[in-house]
Amino acid sequence: MSVNRQWCVAARPVGKPKPSDFLYKESSIPKIGPDEVLLETLYLGIAPVMRMYMMNLPIGGEAPLAIGDVIHGRGVARILESNHPEYKSGEIVQGQLGWQTHKVSKMTERERFLKVKHHELSYAHSVRILSMTGLTAYTSFKDQGRPKSGDIVVVSGAAGGVGHIVVQMAKILGCYVIGIAGGPEKCAIVKNLGADEMIDYKNEDVPERIAQLCPNGMDIYYDNVGGEILSACLNNLAYNARIILCGSISEYTREEKFGLTNYAMLRRANATMHGYFVYNYIDQFDACNAQLADWITSKKMTPLIDELIGFEKMPEALIGVYDGTNIGTRCVKVKLDD
Ligand SMILES: NC(=O)c1ccc[n+]([C@@H]2O[C@H](COP(=O)([O-])OP(=O)(O)OC[C@H]3O[C@@H](n4cnc5c(N)ncnc54)[C@H](OP(=O)(O)O)[C@@H]3O)[C@@H](O)[C@H]2O)c1
Repeated sequence: MSVNRQWCVAARPVGKPKPSDFLYKESSIPKIGPDEVLLETLYLGIAPVMRMYMMNLPIGGEAPLAIGDVIHGRGVARILESNHPEYKSGEIVQGQLGWQTHKVSKMTERERFLKVKHHELSYAHSVRILSMTGLTAYTSFKDQGRPKSGDIVVVSGAAGGVGHIVVQMAKILGCYVIGIAGGPEKCAIVKNLGADEMIDYKNEDVPERIAQLCPNGMDIYYDNVGGEILSACLNNLAYNARIILCGSISEYTREEKFGLTNYAMLRRANATMHGYFVYNYIDQFDACNAQLADWITSKKMTPLIDELIGFEKMPEALIGVYDGTNIGTRCVKVKLDD
């Protein structure tokens, strides 16, 4: 309890992150001052964006990271001690903890701490599903996708954290859903969650399969990956289609960017392509979580939580997201005896 364990930036990742990009440190836990709390990390979420933090790219409003700094990461924590008027010791919160087991914080706006409210679900749910992953899936699909019953929806990254929630939301809302994921195991799992059809992009010809499965085009394309798959979807849009640009993981580690050449297909289909950023939707956090928690407890939605055990697994967990080793939303259980 007297030691704060931390993972820091050892080197800027080139291509996919690798073990030597991460530096392990231990330090003593500072004492809290006025208006501060001491947080003990229970869970940390793992998100592709963490590689960008390590690259020192300006993203998500987070502070720039120098070599040696603790890597940014949101998680769930217990307040061990508090001198803060709005937080009591024993409360469970989620927010910007960084890759460390303890943090002294003034609970600033930038850290975006929120109290965990849905104690009927485990903290493993709160770390990503009832957090930024769920908020992303829910608000982007609802507000930018404007789904209607009967819409044909294509979701890439369909076995990932955001993707598998979008697939299930689309089914709840009466859409016909085609998921795209890497490998037969992931495709079978997402089909089991309700997807009508799956495309295994690692083993199938994506443009051919899309043309076959949506002969009249798709109404919504939910993009988690960018690159060639985005381009293939642009060639198969229904009139008035909506494309939601949530993420482009296939591009994050490329040295030369893909360079979309068929964007004019938007005009032909009278379609929209909309960039999304989760922190613009933080005011919908409580409403979104209430809806997701209801779907989960009523068994309309099955979250896939890909949990690694132990703080020492943090680098492996992030590296794995770039290798596609996660099924569903990835997190690390940091406090083992909770
Ligand atoms: N805009 C926002 O505010 C916002 C917020 C949250 C997340 N995001 C973005 O949303 C996307 C999903 O995030 P997540 O946290 O849910 O991650 P995730 O989907 O759980 O994990 C990433 C998945 O991407 C797939 N992948 C990796 N490399 C790929 C490649 N070269 N081509 C195609 N697929 C690849 C892998 O699945 P396969 O095995 O299927 O390849 C991997 O499991 C990411 O792009 C993320 O950056 C954006």
